[in-house]
Amino acid sequence: MGNTPPEVSIAVAGNRTFFWEKTPVAYQVEVHDPEDGSLAEGSIKPDEVNVFLAYSAGGDNLSPILTAQQHEIQHPGKQLIDGSDCKSCHLPDQPSIGPSYKEVAQRYKNDPGAVDRLAEKVIKGGSGVWKKEFVMVSHPQLSTKAATQMVNYILSLSGDDQKPEKIEVKGSLSLTKPDAAVTNGFYRISASYQDKGGKNVKPLSQTAVVTLKTPLIQAESYDQVNRMKVFGEIEDGDNRYAGNMRPGSSALFKAIDLTDVGAITYQYATTVAGVSIEARLDSLRGPLVSVAEVSSAPEATTWQKATAPVKETKGMHDLYLIVRCKNRDEKDILRLDWLYFDHRSNSASMK
Ligand code: HEC
Repeated sequence: MGNTPPEVSIAVAGNRTFFWEKTPVAYQVEVHDPEDGSLAEGSIKPDEVNVFLAYSAGGDNLSPILTAQQHEIQHPGKQLIDGSDCKSCHLPDQPSIGPSYKEVAQRYKNDPGAVDRLAEKVIKGGSGVWKKEFVMVSHPQLSTKAATQMVNYILSLSGDDQKPEKIEVKGSLSLTKPDAAVTNGFYRISASYQDKGGKNVKPLSQTAVVTLKTPLIQAESYDQVNRMKVFGEIEDGDNRYAGNMRPGSSALFKAIDLTDVGAITYQYATTVAGVSIEARLDSLRGPLVSVAEVSSAPEATTWQKATAPVKETKGMHDLYLIVRCKNRDEKDILRLDWLYFDHRSNSASMK
């Protein structure tokens, strides 16, 4: 006689990729275990299931559970730290030669001037604030921009916004973004159940996870592109963009749920007239769900916004953006910074 592991799932009504601040998310956890029964039938009690809600600003220790399909861009500060010598003296949450990032974040969390001061200290090196016997070496090769991104990342690690909150097995969540500046924040709903096992049989547990992110995707976080490239350095963070596009250039964003999405807004720049952006499902020639006509400006650096309605679409799809131009010989026809997915109820009231 063995023990079969439980099956745990989280049903979410509506969109399974994004959350919108004004739209509550209805969810329900389902647990089924061949030996113990099920949550729906009542043989498994709601208090035997652990359901948690956690928010993450991105780029921290919740991220590993994300798949590439979540379009999670790593915090540029983390990428820079990973490529530098910081880890030889600093650990995320325990002291080493230098203080842990968490301690640094806790110490300066209410200090608005800290970012600039700490960035300067990373570049110049220094001592005397933490343990007296150690000195931080200088990093003269780092630009102020790079050091600032590193410090921004370190200060995001206070752990305060990541404490999971225990929630019911079913309900409706009003999700808001705690930090308005963060564009790649996400909520994570997790549900775990450990079955009762049997005589001489160890209990087995199972966890289901759903992540819902803010409805803004940076253009440079594509999964695949054809005839365009990313401009900007890691330290430019969200200011990077996709550019150098020609008629027919395309970008693929995998597994986007367009349920309840009423419109897409693009932040773009172009000096060329007659440019449009098509959104198609599942292939370059797949169903056309949206076309945005974009207007040109005299300067290639003038960022503008264009909003185009999206045909009612259900479920997860690979989203292809294809750039078109009336004059097929034009080059360098578009820069794309980000795209924002509007909820159908918001976009309807906008027009
Ligand atoms: C040789 C070891 C060493 C290296 C390498 C190092 N640090 Fe430090 N760091 C320290 C020590 C020691 C302190 C504590 C200094 C003090 O007490 O003033 C410190 C302090 C800090 C602080 C807090 C400063 C304060 O005044 O509270 C930050 C932020 C920091 N380091 C970031 C970094 C970053 C980012 C890197 C990589 C670019 C880095 N460190 C590389 C040893 C190091």
